[in-house]
Amino acid sequence: MSSISKSALAALYPQHLEILQQRTAEALQRGGFDHLVVPSGTLHYQFFDDRDYPYAVNPQFKHWAPLIRNPGSWLVVTPGRRPTLIYLQPFDYWHVVPEEPNGYWTEHFDIVVIRTPDEAQQHLPGDVARCAILGEPQSGIGEFAPNNPPTVISYLEYHRAFKTPYEIALMREASRIGARAHRAAERAFRGGASEFGIHLVYCQAALQDANDLPYGNIVALNEHGAVLHYMNRDRLPPKETRSFLIDAGASFNGYASDITRTYAFNRNGEFQALINAVDNAQQAMCAQVRAGFDYRQLHLDAHLAIARILHDFRLINVTPEVAVETGVSSAFFPHGIGHGIGLQVHDVAGFAESDRGGTLPKPAGHPYLRLTRVLEPGMAVTIEPGLYFIDMLLEELKDKGLGPSVNWDRVAAFKPFGGIRIEDDVVCTDGDPINLTREQFAAV
Ligand code: GLY
Ligand code: MN
Ligand code: MN
Repeated sequence: MSSISKSALAALYPQHLEILQQRTAEALQRGGFDHLVVPSGTLHYQFFDDRDYPYAVNPQFKHWAPLIRNPGSWLVVTPGRRPTLIYLQPFDYWHVVPEEPNGYWTEHFDIVVIRTPDEAQQHLPGDVARCAILGEPQSGIGEFAPNNPPTVISYLEYHRAFKTPYEIALMREASRIGARAHRAAERAFRGGASEFGIHLVYCQAALQDANDLPYGNIVALNEHGAVLHYMNRDRLPPKETRSFLIDAGASFNGYASDITRTYAFNRNGEFQALINAVDNAQQAMCAQVRAGFDYRQLHLDAHLAIARILHDFRLINVTPEVAVETGVSSAFFPHGIGHGIGLQVHDVAGFAESDRGGTLPKPAGHPYLRLTRVLEPGMAVTIEPGLYFIDMLLEELKDKGLGPSVNWDRVAAFKPFGGIRIEDDVVCTDGDPINLTREQFAAV
């Protein structure tokens, strides 16, 4: 599938903007404010040092326009008016100065160019008390210190779960870049590259590096696949390459993809069969991304599915149901089934009970689930079941007296392969879900 055209984005953007305007009007009315004011954010510096951390734009800002490298800019939204973008274009010969605003979105804004951060003040609304200012504390300028009213934030963050068609198009593009880079990473793995080498191949294929990617690549060979957030990236290949787990995404116009694949070097061995079983189960879970379905149930169903695989592969000696009840399945699958995704790889408001606040609890015994809402059209979520051989958790089972539930010889046979995770980004619709990840893998 080829990349999205500027004209296609131009056609989708006005509806996105209209929806944001409507949401903002409602949020401001609920909070008793007249204006939404959003700083893009500022640079952070390392302690006792003059080095800055990579700039991360305020997500509330990039929701409106694909501006991800513009610290010191501001957005002002007043219901009934065109939004104003206060755009910092400093006189600076140390850094690249942001270019003139351009693209499909600019015609919808009143744009004021400023040359120093302080100039923004003259263009912000007259009465600061009437402003909901959303941002981090250090973004404040003069009396415009972020007040982050919870009523306004709860409303906007809750509704951010529902992506507009424009946002889905951007996420599809982030998935396209990710899928292409995953293919290149698999080829590097089959060629015997090191973790570091595979990482570089991935970055090259995506044309993105640490400052662009939505999260740090997880590139794990062999046993390293059992470390959920493995970040070491060995510089040398292992003596023997058996397996490869890669969790790596891509960004596009501020939106993320989050993709995991697991490969066996030997495509005819038992580890490949285990991957196939998890892959089949994962696709059945993706099919559960349907309007009205509770994501907590999806997570609990996934535990049973993983426990069935453990049973089929004789890794456990108890029934799948008993494995779930006793917590044995959690030792092999110790994280949540997924999370919302969009402007942030782990999108906000995963536990929001309503757009007025409140918390939907996690199921007892499942502390790492990040999304507890009922699925509705427009929601984009990841589906990422896993099955790992993690010493620490397996030892805990023994300590709890659950050792006899596990077939330790079989565990020993699989341990050199680390573990399996398969992760897709899936959009809930009125009908069949859209699997952004599989759609793009099928095309490259
Ligand atoms: N890559 C982080 C996650 O899968 O949630
Ligand atoms: Mn994820
Ligand atoms: Mn991931």
